[in-house]
Amino acid sequence: MRLDKYVSKVLGITRNEARQNIKSGAIKIEFKNNIRNDDSINEITDVVYYNGQKLEYIKYIYIMLNKPQGYLSATFDKSSPTVVDLVKEYQKYNLAMVGRLDKDTEGLFLLTNDGKFAHNLTSPKKDLFKKYYVEINEVWNKEDIMLFEKGLEIYDGNKKLFKTKPAKLEILADSKAYISISEGKYHQIKKMCLKIGKEVKYLKRIAIGNLYLDENLALGEYRLLTIEEIEKVKNVK
Ligand code: URA
Repeated sequence: MRLDKYVSKVLGITRNEARQNIKSGAIKIEFKNNIRNDDSINEITDVVYYNGQKLEYIKYIYIMLNKPQGYLSATFDKSSPTVVDLVKEYQKYNLAMVGRLDKDTEGLFLLTNDGKFAHNLTSPKKDLFKKYYVEINEVWNKEDIMLFEKGLEIYDGNKKLFKTKPAKLEILADSKAYISISEGKYHQIKKMCLKIGKEVKYLKRIAIGNLYLDENLALGEYRLLTIEEIEKVKNVK
């Protein structure tokens, strides 16, 4: 990789600023192989120092965010804050969102610069279950479980009628439940509830496959996924 590209990526600065740092001598390289070229490095084996401090090159990052209400699932928006605004320190990684949540939905949200990972998890072919905690404006009935299981006819984001795949409704209390769906159509949970005459008052995603939202993360907080968690979601069939 070109050295100025590497420095700009790792320090989160522009290529021009990186070049100035290289020129001023702030950047030192410990070449680990015999092929030396001061303009480029092997980012895996060579070691780069910035003012004496070792730089760490991280290729892929995977962020778990507890999304608060009021944030758009977008990387940039002129008028509303976005999920990427919440993870400022990682913005330099050119993050992609793993699926979307409505502006007023809270909970588990993944961001990554690993496009393949993002694509894999959101691919409709995967049938990966996403679990939500839902509160509605009235009371759940036992019959609702069957209606969700059988599938409901709703309109997707392109106003096309479609039948939802089997979904799991677990009633917790009068108006509270978990709903698990394997699709991710626009406003899907809200539309499914409306179809049976119920209005969603509060929605929070708590799991994607077998990856659960870390309960220690307050709203708006985030952390990197552990290696085990990355493997867990990568290995979904
Ligand atoms: N279903 C919805 O209606 N909204 C979301 O944010 C996610 C699933």
